[in-house]
Amino acid sequence: MAGDALMAKIRSKQALIGVIGLGYVGLPLVREFTRGGARVLGFDVDQVKVDLLKAGKSYIEHLPAKLIKDMIGSGLFEPTTDFDRLAQADCILIAVPTPLTKMREPDMSYIEKTSEAIAKRLRKGQLVVLESTTYPGTTREVMLPILEKSGLKVGKDFFLAFSPEREDPGRKDYSTKTIPKVVGGYDKDSLALAVACYEIAIDNVVPVSSCEAAEAAKILENTYRCVNIALVNELKVLFDRMGIDVWEVIRAASTKPFGFTPFYPGPGLGGHCIPIDPFYLSWKARQYEMTTRFIELAGEVNVAMPRYVVSRLMDALNDRGAALKGAKVLILGLAYKKDIDDVRESPSLELIKLLKEKGAKVDYNDPHVPRTHKMREYDLKMTSRKLSARMLAGYDVVLISTDHSSYDYQFIVDNAKLVLDTRNATVKVKAGAKKIVKA
Ligand SMILES: NC(=O)c1ccc[n+]([C@@H]2O[C@H](COP(=O)([O-])OP(=O)(O)OC[C@H]3O[C@@H](n4cnc5c(N)ncnc54)[C@H](O)[C@@H]3O)[C@@H](O)[C@H]2O)c1
Repeated sequence: MAGDALMAKIRSKQALIGVIGLGYVGLPLVREFTRGGARVLGFDVDQVKVDLLKAGKSYIEHLPAKLIKDMIGSGLFEPTTDFDRLAQADCILIAVPTPLTKMREPDMSYIEKTSEAIAKRLRKGQLVVLESTTYPGTTREVMLPILEKSGLKVGKDFFLAFSPEREDPGRKDYSTKTIPKVVGGYDKDSLALAVACYEIAIDNVVPVSSCEAAEAAKILENTYRCVNIALVNELKVLFDRMGIDVWEVIRAASTKPFGFTPFYPGPGLGGHCIPIDPFYLSWKARQYEMTTRFIELAGEVNVAMPRYVVSRLMDALNDRGAALKGAKVLILGLAYKKDIDDVRESPSLELIKLLKEKGAKVDYNDPHVPRTHKMREYDLKMTSRKLSARMLAGYDVVLISTDHSSYDYQFIVDNAKLVLDTRNATVKVKAGAKKIVKA
């Protein structure tokens, strides 16, 4: 086969792995390849990140500095901003961002720039794999034409595949190594090489028949979550009106041993994946003259949740003869989900914006997020306030937006005047039920 030499290098673990994009996805991937005994060159455009890694420091909370130090110390991992060194890598894995533009369309610029950077240095015998979440067709329609500008031919001179990332930051029961990895190749050789490459690092590699099948599998997974979360969010609003506790209902339904998977409502969707990825598919569907109605509807329901939470908060204050304007509100949890430091697309940010627009004075506490950073849509310039009994008592409302495990919810309820709970975090609290409003 055309890739025999590369296959031999991969099988003997002599292949140099290049990982482009050293973020939430790229760094764990580096960790697993180095643990598997491979040498890894890590590429990022962010000099600050590369310098931190070289100094043995981490910028992601759940990947401790010791891990970075060990990877660098072992001599297996070298981070760099020098993209000329792409030519040295045998297998190039790409984990760059795939956000939405302001118009909620796929922003392909990161994938395009990366493909151009590779095309300039592409040499015979290299394997290129895209990991970033994207719509079906990206690898073949967007990446391949750019890579072939090098004059090299796919399937003959170089190999191309897509393998979606299923990283779930903060998860304890599965890791990058133990989460099965779906791989689709441009052709048979590309698939065989990509499978062999991932087998260095991942326990269970799942081959599929094409790049498109692998791309679509990832979007299906995230759309499935997006739609089901929207369903329980909508039911939450209805059950609130009916005086039924949606959390109790989900707990009861979950006792069915088959045919039911529980999903949980919340203040809105967050993170880099679930609020964004389904829209990659709905955008692509338009090219096929189809509307992805489930995705659009789920998006609509989920996007409305922060406003719903604010309306519940206003009602709760109103019941106590108070108004939101001028009220002091403490948001607990800025991260988009519990026990992590990632605030991308977090509903807490939207809640802060909406509450401030209504004239509330808003602070936040998050043990994982000491301060806010400038983001595309938000520049809040806030720092996390230290929790104490006295400070809790100083707020008109404490709004639980993220249910971090480190919070002592009884302590919070004991000391707060009013608690708005969007996560059922206070379910085990024994005293003070009258102060709690679920939202
Ligand atoms: N975070 C997750 O939990 C998760 C899970 C599954 C899939 N994904 C997908 O993985 C991809 C990466 O997400 P992430 O969370 O790791 O993002 P991230 O922002 O944490 O990391 C991306 C990195 O790429 C770097 N980068 C940007 N442009 C670059 C370029 N042109 N060349 C080289 N490096 C560049 C950035 O500096 C950053 O360090 C996305 O497509 C995302 O949808 C993310």
